[in-house]
Amino acid sequence: MSRARWLTHFGLDALPFAKDIDDADLWLPSRRAALVDQLVDAVHERQHVTLTGEPGVGKTCTLRALRERLPDAGFRLTYCHNATLGRRDFYRQLCLALGLSPKATAAAVFYAVGAHIEELGRERVHPVLLLDEAHLLHQDVLDHLHVLANYEWDSRPLLSLVLVGLPELNDRMRLHRNRSLWSRIHCRLALGEAAPEDTVEYIDARMRDAGAKQSPFDSDALTMLHEATLGRLRDIDHIATDCLKRAARRKLKRIDAALVQTVAKDCA
Ligand SMILES: Nc1ncnc2c1ncn2[C@@H]1O[C@H](COP(=O)(O)OP(=O)(O)O)[C@@H](O)[C@H]1O
Ligand SMILES: [Mg+2]
Repeated sequence: MSRARWLTHFGLDALPFAKDIDDADLWLPSRRAALVDQLVDAVHERQHVTLTGEPGVGKTCTLRALRERLPDAGFRLTYCHNATLGRRDFYRQLCLALGLSPKATAAAVFYAVGAHIEELGRERVHPVLLLDEAHLLHQDVLDHLHVLANYEWDSRPLLSLVLVGLPELNDRMRLHRNRSLWSRIHCRLALGEAAPEDTVEYIDARMRDAGAKQSPFDSDALTMLHEATLGRLRDIDHIATDCLKRAARRKLKRIDAALVQTVAKDCA
């Protein structure tokens, strides 16, 4: 397949800011790597976890980094991203994700999931339930999660819940009503504000991975990109890609702050 003209213009052999990046190629500077370490440790210790951050900061990619780090033999990861279901449909979805046939009643579904988790426990496989977009979970699902995680009189940590979502997930968890679940989550992680150096490093890393010999963004352009995006990676992907395309159309080899500003305004 022939390459898009803007890729050829910048000497790139792949889309530099695409989302289909291999788990093993994720950009993990030391602060992010430390967060992945905490997540890995928590799951090894069979804890429950929350991971919060603004849209596009890299939460779901952090889960993929976790997947890359956990040995297949001892862990069974189940990823659920449709958080907008009521309790019964949530458990049906979970049944399907676990390879179980969905049952008719809520109680039967709950029983099937619980029995499967106990079975995995006997096989020394630790199931990890990754609930993405967890700030959207129905209250009746949240009400029930700590019940799902209760085995043998709440004495056996047979399941780790990893709840991932926007910062308002923390506000929801702190509600009086959710205290049974919140009090069981000891590992509370956040992907916080990015520093300007993070933005520079990220753009550099992704351009290099796509085959660039030299990044076309000048230093003022990088500062402007950081200011326009607050370092949120999905926004960087979007604006940086648009800058590359526009620069290529104008046959420019360098991207300056003025171009970034124009693109950022158009993308806003
Ligand atoms: N560690 C990473 N390495 C490379 N690219 C990343 C990384 N984290 C995020 N990205 C980029 O940012 C985009 C948004 O990340 P994502 O994890 O989906 O954000 P969130 O889940 O916080 O909304 C991804 O599609 C990817 O292009
Ligand atoms: Mg996400």
